[in-house]
Amino acid sequence: MINVAILGYGTVGAGVYKVLHMNREKIAERVGEELNVRYVLDLRDFPGDPCEDVLTHDYNDILNDPDVAIVVETMGGLRPAFEFTKKAICAGKSVCTSNKELVAEHGVLLRDLAKENNVNYLFEASCGGGIPIIHALDSSLTADEIDRVSGILNGTTNYILTAMTDKGQSFEEALREAQKNGFAELHPEADVEGWDACRKIAILSSIAYGRHITYKDVATEGITNIDAVDIAYAGVMGLKIKLLAMSRNTDDGTWAMVAPMLVDADNLLYNVNGVLNAVYLHGNAVGDVYFYGSGAGSLPTASAVAGDIVSCARHLRKTLRSDWTSEPMKMISSEDVKFRYFVRFSGTEEEAKTVFGEIEPIRVEQAEGEFGFMTGEFSRKEFDEKAELSGRVVKAIRRA
Ligand code: HSE
Repeated sequence: MINVAILGYGTVGAGVYKVLHMNREKIAERVGEELNVRYVLDLRDFPGDPCEDVLTHDYNDILNDPDVAIVVETMGGLRPAFEFTKKAICAGKSVCTSNKELVAEHGVLLRDLAKENNVNYLFEASCGGGIPIIHALDSSLTADEIDRVSGILNGTTNYILTAMTDKGQSFEEALREAQKNGFAELHPEADVEGWDACRKIAILSSIAYGRHITYKDVATEGITNIDAVDIAYAGVMGLKIKLLAMSRNTDDGTWAMVAPMLVDADNLLYNVNGVLNAVYLHGNAVGDVYFYGSGAGSLPTASAVAGDIVSCARHLRKTLRSDWTSEPMKMISSEDVKFRYFVRFSGTEEEAKTVFGEIEPIRVEQAEGEFGFMTGEFSRKEFDEKAELSGRVVKAIRRA
């Protein structure tokens, strides 16, 4: 029997507990031994909950128990998760986590520490919820040179944008539903300001390209600025607004960004709706690959964590190889990348043409005293100069 301890009995931790019990026999068959949840650590009490018998409020119970081989960190945040993870690894325990904040901040360090201690630090659930993307990058795609990673990496914002588009819901109403369904972060600014997607694209790109990309190098915009008028314009153009996370690894350097973008119906990401996430990769041998599935939620995320628990259980005292190194990636600014922009403009058509060239005006009944148009390709600096010159740009959204 292999003993497991779960740190944090929130949406994901409770999901892991449930998956390990629900699929107990199948998992035992696959590991070759039974997995037993010996402890659940949480500050709270859960009267009547199945975890009650194994609940502890003291981390030392877990740390000092030599029979606990695998620790599941589903607390989220940096503190005390970082300290707890380091201590577990140094005590010879493998750690599996869904904590993208910690992985983006200290993932390489913790992976190196795990290697020194002959254990594993696995974080499949940190990106794309239940989508098995990290394992695919670490194993199936290791013979490829990957040069592009992009996708919809945050379930909450995709849920909000879909509800605003399909049901005409307000931002606030859709966010409340996402929170009720357990998709959103404790502080939902992390979702709606794009920080969560930023961390995930930094992690995925680091693994895909084999050099460390810090999330601080990812230019990030969220969706708090997107309103019903933007959605109406997008609809008239046959486009959808999606929060995209993207990176490119080019000969000149690597860039990464997160921003709301207009996606057309030919793009597979157009049909990724609700809490679903999708990751697109391009490799020089494999070509285009898409991964698609639930990006948040208790059981899908728990499935990814539990898969990592099985991997750890199958490789006790053997560190699985990973090519994510601490060597920093040479980054270039995504501001220099050229995009087309959809512009909401409060001046005249003549004024718009003088600055942006030929345009096709688009009008929606929801917007008074303005019209919209799509520009040619500009870097952010070029676009900002034009916007300033015209003095009439209400808002601009990139086209993917
Ligand atoms: N808040 C995150 C999301 C949870 O909405 O995608 C999964 O990482």
